[in-house]
Amino acid sequence: MDRYALIGHPVAHSKSPAIHAAFAAQTGQAMSYERILAPLDGFVDTVRAFINEGGRGMNVTVPFKLEAFALADQLSPRARAAGAVNTLSFGADGIHGDNTDGVGLVRDLVANLDCPLAGRRVLLLGAGGAARGALQPLLDAGPARLHLANRTAAKARELAAHFTQLAGSVAFSAGGFDDIGSDPFDVVINATSASLSAAAPDIPASVYAPGALAYDMMYGIEPTAFLRAALAAGAARTADGVGMLVEQAAESFLIWRGVRPDTAPVLTPLRTPPV
Ligand code: ATR
Repeated sequence: MDRYALIGHPVAHSKSPAIHAAFAAQTGQAMSYERILAPLDGFVDTVRAFINEGGRGMNVTVPFKLEAFALADQLSPRARAAGAVNTLSFGADGIHGDNTDGVGLVRDLVANLDCPLAGRRVLLLGAGGAARGALQPLLDAGPARLHLANRTAAKARELAAHFTQLAGSVAFSAGGFDDIGSDPFDVVINATSASLSAAAPDIPASVYAPGALAYDMMYGIEPTAFLRAALAAGAARTADGVGMLVEQAAESFLIWRGVRPDTAPVLTPLRTPPV
């Protein structure tokens, strides 16, 4: 049976093994998917041991996505743009690195949440790894406008500079929370880690256009501080990142097995009820 795994630190509470088991059952694929807790200083050794045992691929989570990027012999264009790898495939020609996080976000928005991005105004909050991974897929989705805002303005501008040549006809801009201005957005995506400390990014209430969706890449059993603040500020609807988690898993499954699973039956029971 072909072996796959999630590698990270921690990994104990990850939903990925259950998600991939459900995809394998649904598509009739003979495969196993386990969790591997790598020591913080032992990522590469742990990956190599898994390859030597016959492992076919791995998902990579915190804090190893940059090490996975460095380890890969070949990188997909989207992994290169993201500067990070969440999906490794092991073949005769070496280690292939890809990144399915951003495409997972876009699929969740467009296909699951019925929130088209083409021609819309999108505000992306944050300038760390999560924001970087989302930028190319968001620009490719063809919004009319994409503004990147970060608490530390210089980091947003520096990150945006790497993506200006990918912006095409998208009105792409970046700055601090004070530079967001008063024009509203149809979609506001939180890619900051503020929710980890139960905080909400300090953005103006005026960012939400009528009908706007607020999306937090984080997820949990409770709505995040960002989503609660968004509703109070007038967002029409909210979603957390559990759909992104399931969609990035489906994209990894497609890379490994050549079949795209149906995500709806897996996602529906996991979706956090609306606030
Ligand atoms: P990740 O890989 O999850 O993106 P990261 O690279 O550490 O994590 O980046 C964290 C991001 O969350 C940054 O954009 C950070 O803003 P700064 O660059 O100003 O530090 C943002 N962030 C963290 N806590 C925040 C908070 N309470 N309010 C607003 N932004 C916050």
